[in-house]
Amino acid sequence: MKKVIALLIALLPAFALANTAGVHLEDMKPDLHDQASLQRGAKNFANYCMGCHSLKFARYNRVARDLGIPEKMMEENLIFNGAKIGSLMEIAMRPVDSKKWFGATPPDLTLVARVRGEDWLYTYLKSFYADASRPWGVNNTVFKDVGMPHVLADLQGQQVKGCAPVTVGFDPLTGRDLKEEECDVLYVEKAGALDAKAYDKFVYDTVNYLVYMGEPVAMERQTIGWFVLLFLALMFVPVYYLNREFWRDIH
Ligand code: HEC
Repeated sequence: MKKVIALLIALLPAFALANTAGVHLEDMKPDLHDQASLQRGAKNFANYCMGCHSLKFARYNRVARDLGIPEKMMEENLIFNGAKIGSLMEIAMRPVDSKKWFGATPPDLTLVARVRGEDWLYTYLKSFYADASRPWGVNNTVFKDVGMPHVLADLQGQQVKGCAPVTVGFDPLTGRDLKEEECDVLYVEKAGALDAKAYDKFVYDTVNYLVYMGEPVAMERQTIGWFVLLFLALMFVPVYYLNREFWRDIH
C-alpha cells in the first residue's frame, strides 16, 4: 500500500501537466527582487483577474508590505470590494454562479504558480486563440477546452491558429530575422492595445506576481540563507581551533 501511495505522489506532477503533453512551454524566469515588476503585476491582477479569481490565502496588508506599496494607495487603487486592508483577498462571486456561467469555477490562484509552474502560466496567458466551437469563442493550446474567456484580448488582440511566417534564426549579413512559413502556430490577426513586446511584459509581471504569491517568504528566505552561510563560515574558525585543542594531547 505504501508503495502505491509513494508512486501516486511521484506521479502527481505528471497528472498536473498531463494536458500540456507535447506543447512547448516558453521559458519564464521570475525575479522577486524586481519590486516594480511585482507592483505592476499586483495592479494587473487586481484589474484583470480578481473579478473571477481570489487569492484567499493572502492578506492585502501583507502584500502591500512585501511589495512596498503604501497601504493607503493599496486601499484606494487595488481593493475594489470595500474590503479592509487586513482582510484576506477574497472575491464576491459565488462558486455556484460561476460554475453556471463558465462551466467551471475559477480556482483560487494563491498557490497556482506552485502547482503549474511559471513557464506554464506564462505560456497559458499567451496561448488563447479563436475557436468558434467554444462557448467564449476561444480555446487554449496548453489548456484544452478551457472555461476561461480570453480576458486579455483587448490588450493582446485576437490570436488565430494557422500558417504564418515564424522567426527561425538571424541572418548577420542582412541584419534581418530569418523567417519560414510554419503551420499550426498562433499569430495575432487583429491587433490589441499592446504590441507583442508590451504584452509579453504585461504577462511577465502578472506571472512574477503569482510566483511571489505562491511563496511570499521566498525573498526573506534567500536573504536569511546568506546570513546562515556567513554564520557557518565565521563559526568554522573557532570550531576548527577548538577541535585542534581537544585532540592535541591525544595525538
Ligand atoms: C471572467 C472570469 C475570469 C477572469 C476575469 C479570469 N479568469 Fe482565469 N479562469 C476562469 C475560469 C472559469 C477558469 C477555469 C477554467 C476551466 O477549468 O476550464 C480559469 C482558469 C484559470 C487558470 C488555470 C488554473 C488551473 O490550474 O487550472 C489560470 C492560471 C487563470 N485562470 C489565470 C487567470 C489570470 C492570470 C487572469 C487575469 C489576467 C484570469 N485568470 C482572469 C475565469 C476567469
